[in-house]
Amino acid sequence: MAKAKYTTHLGMFDILPDESPKWRALENIIHEEAAKFNFEEIRTPIMEQTELIKRGVGQLTDIVTKEIFAFKKGDSNYVLRPELTAPVVRSFVEHHLDQRGGSQKLYYIGPMFRAERPQKGRQRQFHQFGVEIIGSDDPVADVECIAFMMQIYKRIGIKNFNLKLNSVGDPESRDAYKSVLRDYLKPHFDSLSELSQKRFDKNPMRILDSKEPEDQEFIKNAPVISDHLNEESARHFEKVCDYLRKLGIEYTIDPLLVRGMDYYTRTAFELTSPDLGSQDALAGGGRYDLLVQEIGGKPTPAVGFAAGMERLMIACEELNIELALPKKVDIYIVSLGDNARSWALTALPKFREAGISATMDYLGRSMRAQMKDANRENAVYSIIVGDNELEEGKFTFRNMHESEEESLSLDEILTKLS
Ligand code: HAM
Repeated sequence: MAKAKYTTHLGMFDILPDESPKWRALENIIHEEAAKFNFEEIRTPIMEQTELIKRGVGQLTDIVTKEIFAFKKGDSNYVLRPELTAPVVRSFVEHHLDQRGGSQKLYYIGPMFRAERPQKGRQRQFHQFGVEIIGSDDPVADVECIAFMMQIYKRIGIKNFNLKLNSVGDPESRDAYKSVLRDYLKPHFDSLSELSQKRFDKNPMRILDSKEPEDQEFIKNAPVISDHLNEESARHFEKVCDYLRKLGIEYTIDPLLVRGMDYYTRTAFELTSPDLGSQDALAGGGRYDLLVQEIGGKPTPAVGFAAGMERLMIACEELNIELALPKKVDIYIVSLGDNARSWALTALPKFREAGISATMDYLGRSMRAQMKDANRENAVYSIIVGDNELEEGKFTFRNMHESEEESLSLDEILTKLS
């Protein structure tokens, strides 16, 4: 085969016709489950202002320092959204969604962009589904988020995973912990990675998230935030754990879990799967009580998560879970000659109106080639039409799977199928 002249960019993939049914099946599951939880869908533009992402996600995060696709056009700075929490909060503030009353329970599905080094389960364009509950600081909201996330995997049949949970504290707890952490790391400062040294002053907690080998020893023995939570944060976290136990959702507490964005406060969680290899995070999220204010809104607590859809697909493949039924078409009209082709073209809408999927040959092929095509399309029935059939008004109606035939008029076929 000749090599294509143009290809997709590195780490970006076409979803081809053989794969799109499973994407649609997954999307349908998400829409159905979201409706059961009374989440409402929000769709925001693919591009946002670069400043929003820098401010929302955090200037020193990997996403902002290394991974955003950003460019200038005219006077505007555009960024392809690397995630949707900051954009959804932007939309919440911009459109005063708080005025709708109560807490806003929003969900989304869509593509995100991060200029990461591609590998299995890590793309530059990938898809997430997620939810953001904006306007409640009740631990019930945290747990509803987690319950929704788990429900999607449960419904699909992915059961083998690990829910890791931590509290990264409220600002008071974080300040106390940051200073303990700095005191602990200070004597080792020169041995830390360059990136961790940069984070030392402004955001030492992100050092706990470092993958650099030279940092690992210090991370392992670092003091943990759970010992430094103030009463309020500790109580909130205890409630989240308590509700999860009440729902029978298993979790493990991971004191090193800090997540990759700066906006998190209090609850943080991640769902990992042993079926995924090195990129093992299926989903992650947490509380971000300061972000709405950071982006220009009134102080408003919020919590959410997002899940990687490609990673979910990889897990399905590993577990031999078929998300979609094999493709099929109910009727394939095999037409021989011009008159038969024009009859076929006018018969198609009658089937479709009756809710029956129907197609025909567009290439004027031989009967043999059309029958072969009907098999390839996984047709349930074929109708064979030539000049003789047209004259008689009776057509060969063939059950493709059982290889049975009868001679029927179009009306008889329609009655039989409906
Ligand atoms: P995140 O952990 O960056 O969180 O991404 C969530 C999930 O998206 C990951 O667990 C992973 O499954 C998937 N993902 C991330 N990057 C890639 C990639 N390069 N290729 C394939 N999949 C990827 C967030 O995005 C937060 N906005 C989640 C959140 C919502 N927190 C609160 N609300």
